[in-house]
Amino acid sequence: MRLLIVGFGTVGQGLAELLIEKKQQLHDIHKLDVTVVGIADMLKGSVYNDDGIDLATALEAAKANKPLGELPNAYDGDALSMIKAAKADMMVEATYTDIKTGKPATGHIRAALENGMHVTTTNKGPLALYYHELAQLAEAKGVKFLFEGTVMSGSPVLNLIRETLAGSDISEIKGILNGTTNYILSEMEEGNSYEDALKKAQELGYAEAVPDADVLGWDALAKVTILAAAGFGARVKPDDFPCKGITEITAEAIAEAKARGKRFKLIGKVWREGNQVKGSVAPEEIDMSHPLAGIMGATNALTFATDTLGDVTIVGAGAGRIETGYSALVDIIHAGGK
Ligand code: HSE
Repeated sequence: MRLLIVGFGTVGQGLAELLIEKKQQLHDIHKLDVTVVGIADMLKGSVYNDDGIDLATALEAAKANKPLGELPNAYDGDALSMIKAAKADMMVEATYTDIKTGKPATGHIRAALENGMHVTTTNKGPLALYYHELAQLAEAKGVKFLFEGTVMSGSPVLNLIRETLAGSDISEIKGILNGTTNYILSEMEEGNSYEDALKKAQELGYAEAVPDADVLGWDALAKVTILAAAGFGARVKPDDFPCKGITEITAEAIAEAKARGKRFKLIGKVWREGNQVKGSVAPEEIDMSHPLAGIMGATNALTFATDTLGDVTIVGAGAGRIETGYSALVDIIHAGGK
């Protein structure tokens, strides 16, 4: 498989590490040999070579904050021109998320699909805003459009809905969808300040480039919208659902709730009501005995209410470098492996 990586920040680098580390395993188990032909990054610069670039060198340069444009095979053009001209089988789109506009990622995805490439993206903007349009384009072009990393990073959620729960009717999906806010609430309960916890979440690579997207609930809202669109087939936009973040929750309120046997969690949910699909994001006081109350730190959790299995709950990583890089890897295996 000839791969193009667009966006070489936390996620792109996490994927590159995994591709290097698991090269033999991919070959032996999945009959998959991945050649990265190009990397395009708005800040770091770009490299491209039809025969493959040196991924380890590019990764080393990115980690050392050295411009990719100083490496052999430097590419002097923007991501869109590379995608249009590239000879690649699949594109990984891992640029920063803009939940309000979906730019520039949506343009990258459209161009890659038009060019006949499979696409995997970890970018929530295009999915929350244009899922149906992009999925139809992929179908028309006969390529795969995968986005496991948009909800709960590499923890299986969209694969679970698409494959393992395929014969089930899901009436509700509910849980903790944002690692940064869950981490902040957990840290505040331990007596740490909101500011320190947010800073730490940024250092650990959980927080979005614009932290408002986490703390005001927009990130969880994007994920709720993706679940509604891709999970329930609903034609919805983020603005269709009410959304409230955690910025009004004080340390006093957290302590007071705890004394009453409750814990604040930012809960995202999507459910069917008659023919309609509803969704919401809001802090809820969860009883300590409830399974979601025990989910601490950056961990996420989602419960699927099904007609065949009752409740199915998945608990796992919701953010992070390797965790989200892995989501792209599993989509690459699904697109090109055996
Ligand atoms: N900022 C997001 C979070 C990253 O904290 O969960 C994963 O979407």
